[in-house]
Amino acid sequence: MLKPFVDRPRRLRRSALIRDMVHEVELNLSQLVQPYFLSTQNNPEAKETISEFSGVYRWGIDSLSREMESQIDRGLSRFLLFGSTDDKDATGSAAVSQNAKVAEAITKLKKRFGDASLLFSDICLCPYTNHGHCGIVRGESIENDASIDLLCRMALTHAEAGVDFVAPSDMMDGRVGAIRQILDQKQFSDVGILAYTAKYKSNYYGPFREALDSAPQKGDRSTYQMDYRNQREALRELQLDLAEGADLVMVKPALAYLDILSLFAKQSTVPVAAYSVSGEYQMVQLAAKAGIADVKSLALENLTAIRRAGADIILTYFAAEIAEKGWLR
Ligand code: PBG
Ligand code: ZN
Repeated sequence: MLKPFVDRPRRLRRSALIRDMVHEVELNLSQLVQPYFLSTQNNPEAKETISEFSGVYRWGIDSLSREMESQIDRGLSRFLLFGSTDDKDATGSAAVSQNAKVAEAITKLKKRFGDASLLFSDICLCPYTNHGHCGIVRGESIENDASIDLLCRMALTHAEAGVDFVAPSDMMDGRVGAIRQILDQKQFSDVGILAYTAKYKSNYYGPFREALDSAPQKGDRSTYQMDYRNQREALRELQLDLAEGADLVMVKPALAYLDILSLFAKQSTVPVAAYSVSGEYQMVQLAAKAGIADVKSLALENLTAIRRAGADIILTYFAAEIAEKGWLR
């Protein structure tokens, strides 16, 4: 008796050799960017733990430099730098001062590693302002255009220090175009812009704000960061950042925003990055601690899902551990 035809997808799941041949999505170290925080202390050997941010530190310049060297040896060569200060003021002037810590670090790291590493620097005022907002505050409002002036100066300082990409994360309107213009004017046309294009007002930023002591003191970020009820608005931000000259566009956070990523993957004319943020990272750490799964499996599943949704590049605090432990080998 002839059996009826049965379509059997399981045939392609039968062995590891078949599965590895037909799998669709790759995760490689070359797609990962590791964020690093600079210590505000003057100790070049600093490596300070952050209580609700497992395995993430605030680094001194020398300890960071050695850390990066080991990572580069393992094939992880792309880094995003964050600074902050203990001398916060209303305009975040430490962000733009000539001897700004981040600029100093960029100079030293570039001197040491040259083209063997790619340096990104976050451009925002919140780690430097005493009110913790990403721009200049006047009364109840965050001043868009006055903030842009400062952000441009900050970006220029980092460009002068030799950064490869500046990454404005403030969500002021028009800052990508303004930064592009000043960089070009000052002969830094090779310095790229990784734009935080669709950055949502999210509850996943907790550990990061502890790391930089950058939480808003009054109010929240809802007049500049995006409302998580919105998808169409992300496309508007995408069009603007592309028109203003972004080289790379980013969605942030990542895991709860895979629909936005997948939209960007279809509509963007430049590569798409995803920032898997501090809260996403710490949730995995805590879940593992609670014994419901292990860090490696959860982290790789999440990052692969972010790639599958359409991210070309992923900023993740797991990059260092992945490289260290050879999880992608
Ligand atoms: C703010 C900024 C934030 C992050 C990077 N830059 C969030 C915020 O405080 O609004 C979050 C990164 C993370 O949580 O890992 N300019
Ligand atoms: Zn900010």
